[in-house]
Amino acid sequence: MNPSSPRRGSVARFLLAATAAALVAVGALALLLNIFERKQEAKNPFFKVVELTDDTTDPAVWGKNFPLQYDDYKRTVDQERTRYGGSEALPRTPTADDPRATVAQSKIEEDPRLKKMWAGYAFAADFREERGHAYMLSDQTITDRQKVVKQPGACLNCHASTYTAYKKIGDGDLQKGFEKISAMPYAEAATHVEHPVACIDCHDSQTMALRITRPAFMEGMRNLKAAQGVKDYDVNRDATRQEMRSFVCGQCHVEYYFKGAEKKLTYPWHNGTKVEQMLAYYDQVGFKDWTHKDTGAPALKAQHPEFELWSQGIHARSGVACADCHMPYKREGAHKISSHHVRSPLLDINRACQTCHKWSEAELKDRVETIQTRFHNLRNVAMDALMDLIDDLKSAKAAGASDEQLKDGREFQRKAQFYFDFVEAENSTGFHAPDEAARILGESIDFSRKGQKAVRALLPPPAAQPTAAAPVPAQP
Ligand code: HEC
Ligand code: HEC
Ligand code: HEC
Ligand code: HEC
Ligand code: HEC
Repeated sequence: MNPSSPRRGSVARFLLAATAAALVAVGALALLLNIFERKQEAKNPFFKVVELTDDTTDPAVWGKNFPLQYDDYKRTVDQERTRYGGSEALPRTPTADDPRATVAQSKIEEDPRLKKMWAGYAFAADFREERGHAYMLSDQTITDRQKVVKQPGACLNCHASTYTAYKKIGDGDLQKGFEKISAMPYAEAATHVEHPVACIDCHDSQTMALRITRPAFMEGMRNLKAAQGVKDYDVNRDATRQEMRSFVCGQCHVEYYFKGAEKKLTYPWHNGTKVEQMLAYYDQVGFKDWTHKDTGAPALKAQHPEFELWSQGIHARSGVACADCHMPYKREGAHKISSHHVRSPLLDINRACQTCHKWSEAELKDRVETIQTRFHNLRNVAMDALMDLIDDLKSAKAAGASDEQLKDGREFQRKAQFYFDFVEAENSTGFHAPDEAARILGESIDFSRKGQKAVRALLPPPAAQPTAAAPVPAQP
């Protein structure tokens, strides 16, 4: 019952006048309220079958009240490839160590240059195409990256329904629980969670409104807004509904690192979300993810910055949210709902794009693939440039160059690698912000070539070259 409804006001005035019949009137009011409530319920398409609380983690329970959303949510097990996205379901024989019946294709087998780029780091051991939300917890638990490095509980923040676990371990204090679980060894932390991302991680159980449940995102947004001159930003208090339709995703689809011995999950947005602003932050705090095995460079690994790249694109600028494309509205009988089958929009172009664009499905698909193919070709050029720099650094090291002499070349490798990885690890193959992605690759190429120039000055002069000028290659 809406407390400010005019009907309730007039009834109240009537009550004041009729003080003598107070008891009878209260009974009449109760009846009126009851009838009004029933009417409201008839308008609400959802039947409240079960009582949900702020501790109901199991999505199957929420599914009793919201069966349409729950059915779609379960469909995130589906695997389907698009030209550059989606994923392949590769069958495998389940073993005691790894009960999965399918895995997604391996990215490092698809392009072995990635192994050279990440030499000495866990990603060179196992890195696969991402797939639907249903797999997030098992894929993380079983990746070979767990065997190479002792991973912390902080990994779970984006791979499980952690909201109730944080509250429980923190005795009701979300922030405290988050910090405690993050610092635990992975295996111990994992005993406190049960489900992949669930309804309660995105929704308030009483109003179904979207809300942010991840302390790292709350802090990340506070830092980002502070860099933009907005003080004391509180995402749950200050964000608009349309912003929330992206922010709920931005809790996980972002670049991150674990700060200090306590492994505090941190988003490096203190200067802003552009690639150079994030690199500047890492430089300021003196952070590296690992030391490159072949060159000794203090390297950084970028991871899935969908939120950051999207925020530099025309869609973000026009107010188009992640949910507009990845959770488009659909009609189910008389109801209009958001598709909770979160996946590639290219598998649902009609709902995902044609609500705004009047181009045909074929035309829309072609526009996306044109952007992605251009991106992919430029990415290959940037990757080769980075391989060249790594080779030169290796040779210079083998030839006895000192750390001091190699410093500039290594610094260029750190930059070229982070820029390249930023758009490589981003999962839209350039689509979320095509111009920005191309700019980043262009600068990455420049860093690699400048690095080579610095390193080649250290190498013994090459053997005398034949004097005849090489033929100029034909222009493509
Ligand atoms: C204008 C529509 C649009 C918006 C807005 C949008 N995306 Fe995308 N997204 C796409 C398209 C198109 C692809 C490429 C899909 C493909 O290649 O199959 C994609 C790819 C992805 C992928 C990889 C999917 C796959 O199957 O490989 C992820 C993850 C993703 N987006 C997350 C996000 C997040 C998070 C946001 C908001 C911060 C966002 N997207 C905003 C259209 C959009
Ligand atoms: C800030 C959120 C976040 C954190 C923290 C996080 N992940 Fe992920 N992870 C994601 C997202 C988003 C994807 C899907 C996009 C992708 O694969 O690029 C993903 C994908 C994966 C995958 C599947 C694809 C692959 O890389 O093979 C594995 C495995 C994985 N993460 C392991 C880990 C491990 C181990 C940790 C801890 C070191 C971790 N994740 C921490 C957000 C996170
Ligand atoms: C709790 C963290 C988390 C949240 C919140 C989250 N994601 Fe994801 N998302 C992941 C992880 C992890 C994966 C990869 C799972 C795997 O590969 O096992 C993933 C995978 C995806 C994929 C790839 C699906 C496919 O079939 O290939 C898309 C698209 C995607 N997410 C979009 C979104 C959008 C849009 C939102 C917001 C509405 C969102 N995600 C919210 C963590 C998250
Ligand atoms: C990754 C975040 C995320 C998860 C997990 C999630 N939802 Fe949603 N849900 C959304 C978004 C985004 C909307 C659109 C809300 C808006 O526009 O205000 C939405 C909308 C809804 C709505 C409003 C009606 C509609 O469909 O637009 C209901 C009901 C709902 N979700 C139920 C569920 C249930 C039940 C689950 C668990 C099975 C669930 N959601 C899991 C993000 C999520
Ligand atoms: C909620 C509305 C909305 C949705 C949904 C949407 N777009 Fe857009 N799109 C826009 C707006 C607004 C622009 C900016 C240009 C303009 O004003 O026409 C744009 C621009 C584009 C451009 C031109 C990009 C450029 O750099 O010039 C392409 C291509 C595009 N959209 C493709 C898609 C695809 C593919 C999808 C579905 C995955 C999609 N859009 C979904 C609103 C939308």
